[in-house]
Amino acid sequence: MSDTYTLYNNTVMDHFMNPRNMGDIKDADGIGEVGAAACGDIMKISLKIRDGKIEDARFKTFGCGSAIASSSMATELIKGRTVDEALSFSNQEVVDALGGLPPVKIHCSVLAEEALKAALEDYLKKHPELATQACKSEVVAA
Ligand code: FES
Repeated sequence: MSDTYTLYNNTVMDHFMNPRNMGDIKDADGIGEVGAAACGDIMKISLKIRDGKIEDARFKTFGCGSAIASSSMATELIKGRTVDEALSFSNQEVVDALGGLPPVKIHCSVLAEEALKAALEDYLKKHPELATQACKSEVVAA
């Protein structure tokens, strides 16, 4: 391996080289697309939600290895969570699950949190009747 790869640990490299949940969901219930102003990278997360739970999550990321690994891990982590639980998802969870990211790459994991929250907002806008009070305050705060 080249020195470029020494920036990342084995877990990050695995999710970068073998990303989980890549692609789109047909008839997604919520779609979030965000961009990082600093680097121009783009991340899109789509969700399938059934009975208030995230049944499936997919991503498309046009960006760096850390952004791809972060979106891969984020989609793994949020599957099976309720919408309420997912609204409090944080990039730190992604960083921890990946076993850490280089400090200059932490912002890539923030992109995954933002894309997920944008997808949840999209879902709740389409289904305002499903938003609990906690959800509403999260969406208003976002
Ligand atoms: S450098 Fe842009 S998201 Fe990683």
